[in-house]
Amino acid sequence: DCISSRRIVRLPGMIDVHVHLRDPGQTHKEDFASGSAAALAGGVTMVMAMPNTKPAIIDRDSFQMAKECAARGARCDYALFVGASLDNYRQLAELGPRAAALKMYLNDTFSDLRLDDLTVWSQHMEHWPRHLPLCVHAEGQTMAAAMMVAALANRPIHICHVAKKEEILLIKAAKQRGFPVTCEVSPHHLFLTSSELGRLGAMGQVKPPLMVEDDQRALWDNMAVIDCFATDHAPHTVAEKRSEKPPPGFPGLETMLPLLLTAVNQGRLTLQVTVIVICARQNRQGTIADQPLIVTRGQQNRQGTGADQPLGWSDLEDKLHHNPRRIFKLPEQPNTYIEVDMDETYSIPEAPAHSKAMWTPFAGRAVAGAVKRVVLRGEVAMVDGRVLATPGSGRDVRELQPLLPPPPAVQPETVVMPWTEEREWHVPAAGRT
Ligand code: DOR
Ligand code: ZN
Ligand code: ZN
Ligand code: ZN
Repeated sequence: DCISSRRIVRLPGMIDVHVHLRDPGQTHKEDFASGSAAALAGGVTMVMAMPNTKPAIIDRDSFQMAKECAARGARCDYALFVGASLDNYRQLAELGPRAAALKMYLNDTFSDLRLDDLTVWSQHMEHWPRHLPLCVHAEGQTMAAAMMVAALANRPIHICHVAKKEEILLIKAAKQRGFPVTCEVSPHHLFLTSSELGRLGAMGQVKPPLMVEDDQRALWDNMAVIDCFATDHAPHTVAEKRSEKPPPGFPGLETMLPLLLTAVNQGRLTLQVTVIVICARQNRQGTIADQPLIVTRGQQNRQGTGADQPLGWSDLEDKLHHNPRRIFKLPEQPNTYIEVDMDETYSIPEAPAHSKAMWTPFAGRAVAGAVKRVVLRGEVAMVDGRVLATPGSGRDVRELQPLLPPPPAVQPETVVMPWTEEREWHVPAAGRT
């Protein structure tokens, strides 16, 4: 009763370091239960939730409120960002060990948390503990300024949703000089350009905006500079997107992996895989894997630019699992993996099943690659589009493993700039804000 022979690939649970789940406060757009269901359907087993909720997550009370929403609703594992405000830099350090990271909004976007004042930027970058991740929404010249302030504060910085050629090239130059800068790119900037704005109309509004083909090509040409893929899942309803003032943002959790797997099939991205050919059977539970038989272990190579990469290097596992874990210091999820069918072809539906957004900018696009099964901490959390994990079953990974500060430095007044081994800068402690 075999119906087909397919390449089923087992991958680690995907980690999305940038999602907006709208909970608390705008749960008609999304909540932890619906957003984490969308995550599991998309092969994502851990999400990092952004703080631009209502209220925004900027102090102990709002953080506690978000933690309760998440604990009740989440079906996958998670961590919660805290947001930088004009005057909360002193209060945030206390929340640090239990937060995903600090988020700073440095451009205008769907948030009340925009920071313009360089003095405030410096206060946050100096006070947020250096062993904890710090992420910025900073586009174009703002990104250059943010990297400069981080460098002067002698701390690592993570750049959200890089979209432009000038941004990825500046990050590349900074990395070459040893600056501790990392970055993420969102699927919509890899797979859509401003040429689609005619078709998408107001639905196409997103921050950063869709860019021209030259920008998109620069992202693909500099794939090795990209540390993470992250959806920036930003659900808004169809009615909101069609209104007078459409809010920016695209849902992305359910479509990211099919798009990226399609790119693997096209030879544009790499995957380090155990390829299993299985006998697939249809029963009341849908298509189920039967008799796994390991055929080959190897690498699906990216054509052209990937040639200089060492063996074992792989876009998908690196940018959606290993690098997120390293940059955000995330614990392992034991007994957690996903299975994808590399040969299932279909077109992305008008309304993916789980997000409350009920639309996608990728509707109608032909993809090759489907998420079939998700196992999270030993339990089947999703199979063939059906989410089995219940609200509340997701764990806060920062409660499982808080990011406690490292032991104090021997000479706290001496700061070694991380990108130069020989130079030391003596910073008078009292002179710092
Ligand atoms: O398009 C966006 N939507 N960009 C952002 O920075 C925020 C996000 C949202 O929260 O809707
Ligand atoms: Zn809630
Ligand atoms: Zn942003
Ligand atoms: Zn965002």
